[in-house]
Amino acid sequence: MKTVRQCLHAEGTPQSLVETLDAILLACKEIASQLHQGALAGILGCAGQENVQGETQKKLDVVSNDLLKSYLKNCSFVAGMASEEEDDPVEANKEGEYLVLFDPLDGSSNIDVNVTVGTIFSILPAKGDASKVESYLQPGNQQIAAGYVVYGPSTLLVLSTGKGVNVYTLHTGALDFLLTREQVKIPAVTKEFAINMSNQRFWEPAMQNYVADMLKGEEGPLEKRYNMRWVASMVAEVHRIITRGGIFMYPWDSREPLKPGKLRLMYEGNPMSFLVEQAGGAASNTKMDIMDVQPGSIHERVSVVLGSKTEVEIAVKYHN
Ligand code: AHG
Ligand code: MN
Ligand code: MN
Repeated sequence: MKTVRQCLHAEGTPQSLVETLDAILLACKEIASQLHQGALAGILGCAGQENVQGETQKKLDVVSNDLLKSYLKNCSFVAGMASEEEDDPVEANKEGEYLVLFDPLDGSSNIDVNVTVGTIFSILPAKGDASKVESYLQPGNQQIAAGYVVYGPSTLLVLSTGKGVNVYTLHTGALDFLLTREQVKIPAVTKEFAINMSNQRFWEPAMQNYVADMLKGEEGPLEKRYNMRWVASMVAEVHRIITRGGIFMYPWDSREPLKPGKLRLMYEGNPMSFLVEQAGGAASNTKMDIMDVQPGSIHERVSVVLGSKTEVEIAVKYHN
C-alpha cells in the first residue's frame, strides 16, 4: 500500500507542500494517540478558559492546537497560521510559502462522550506579512490543499491538493497514513440529510420549507423518503457524505442574527467545500459558492449547505 508521501510525490506535489502536510500529520498522529488514551491521558473535560469566539475550550482543543502550532512553527515552509483557538494569526517562518489555517479539534462536544471528532486544515499561499490578518483573508478558491483527519473507530486522512480526493488510513504500527480509497466521488443524488433539527424555528422560511418538504417523503414534492443523521461533528458528517453521499446543512439562524452562521468560513467552510467539490459535490452558503465568499475577518462565520450536487442545487433553489 502506498503511503501519503508516495502518493503526493506521484502527483507531482512540490516538496515544500509535502513537508508542510507532513508537519500537520505529525501533530494529528499525536492527537490520535492522546484520544485513544482518553481519560488515561488526562485529556477529557474543560480547559477552564474561553476562546476568542466565547466558546469554552476543552482540554483537547488546547492540546491539539498546541501540537499543530509547534510542528508548523518548526516547518520552514510555513509562513504563518491561523487557528479557531487563537485570537490572532501566529507567524512562523519569514521565508515560508504557505499559510495553514485549522480547526484543531472539530466536534469538541463529542470528546467526553467518546464519539468521533477530527482536525480540519486549509493551506493558502503566503502573501504579505504572515503576522497580519489581511494576509489570510483570501477566498477558499485560492486554497492549495485542504483535508481533515477523522478520529473514529479508525483514524483516517482525507486529503486533496486539487487533483481529486484520496482517503488514507492510519496504520498504527507503522505510524503512517496508507492509501485506502482513491479518487473518491460523492454520488450526485441522495436521500440522507444532516441538520440540527432543534434549531428549526430559528431558520429562514426557505430552509424551513425545504426541510419540511424532505420530511413529507414520497408524498411530498421531492418524492423521496429521506433518512436523517446528526453527529454534531462536521468532520464525521462530511466523512459520511464523502463515503456514501448526503447533504449537510448548518444554515444561518435567528439565535445570533448578526452572524452569517455558526461554522467558521476559514477553518471549516472553505476546507470542507474544497474537498467536497474535488469529490464532485457542491458547497453553497445558499446564495453563492462558499469558496467565492471574500472573507472580512479570520474568525468569520458562514452558512453551510454541502454534499451531493443535485441535492445542494435543490436546497439552493428553495432560497432563490
Ligand atoms: P467545534 O467543535 O470546532 O466548535 O465545531 C463544532 C461544530 C461542527 O463540528 C458541528 O457540525 C456543529 O458545531 C455542531 O453544532 P450543534 O451542537 O449546534 O449541533
Ligand atoms: Mn469545528
Ligand atoms: Mn474546534
